[in-house]
Amino acid sequence: MPFADYKTALVTGASSGIGAATVERLRGEGLEVHALARNAANLDELARRTGCIPHALDVSDTAGLERLAAEVPFDILVNNAGVDRPGSILKADAEGIDLLVDVNLRAVLHLCRLVVPGMVARDRGHVVNISSIAGAYNFGGNSTYHATKAAVSMLSRQLRIDCFGKRVRVTEICPGRVATDIFAHVHGNPEEMHKRFIEGFELPQASDIAGAIAFAIAAPVSMNVGHMEITPTLQVPGGLSTARPETAQA
Ligand SMILES: NC(=O)c1ccc[n+]([C@@H]2O[C@H](COP(=O)([O-])OP(=O)(O)OC[C@H]3O[C@@H](n4cnc5c(N)ncnc54)[C@H](OP(=O)(O)O)[C@@H]3O)[C@@H](O)[C@H]2O)c1
Repeated sequence: MPFADYKTALVTGASSGIGAATVERLRGEGLEVHALARNAANLDELARRTGCIPHALDVSDTAGLERLAAEVPFDILVNNAGVDRPGSILKADAEGIDLLVDVNLRAVLHLCRLVVPGMVARDRGHVVNISSIAGAYNFGGNSTYHATKAAVSMLSRQLRIDCFGKRVRVTEICPGRVATDIFAHVHGNPEEMHKRFIEGFELPQASDIAGAIAFAIAAPVSMNVGHMEITPTLQVPGGLSTARPETAQA
């Protein structure tokens, strides 16, 4: 059980959804878990409930990440913090593009830069990156989100090359729709978003994704679970559209 080989974990985006469930699961496995997000009240509640160590920090605060990574030799890094904005690139604004790149990609790269060399030096570690089916498939959504998640997906593969020869494992978790508050965080109006995206569907819960993360970590150290695509059974990506010119929308 490699959980016994690991002592410390850092989970970003820990104040809700998949991140909070992952903190709870890893604490249940006996790890010292550092939970990072901006919402200090939610983190404090999670700390009271699970005994995790809260860090109220924005992942785009690179100096803050540097301080934290210098303090703790992390054995497990779960890059989970993520944001999206409504609308396609046709309606994107500069602030939205910068935000998605900063949170979904730049912070992931910086955390890998700060944490993975220590894992390599200790010959022990596990990076879990939460991407999305948006990184693998094209469908109606925000193209900046798709682009940042595709980058995280390729980074996950490339990290395997960077760590070649060392017992540093890398797992990309690629979820489809999961029953979290992300839709309310993207679109506002929690009640309406719950009705539109959650109510009446059979969806994986945040704890199910945490369970998949735990499975990858608990695997024998000789085994690397590289990629897990997890969708609702009743959800499939894909499709093909062909527009006649007179009906094509700008
Ligand atoms: N739910 C789905 O259907 C789904 C599908 C595919 C992929 N995903 C991915 O799964 C991950 C977790 O999403 P979720 O569904 O659990 O959504 P969520 O409930 O909205 O959680 C997002 C987390 O990211 C944190 N975060 C956002 N901006 C941050 C920042 N600047 N600094 C630090 N933390 C920040 C949020 O905390 P604060 O606001 O407190 O900072 C929150 O804890 C994301 O990467 C998302 O893209 C989700």
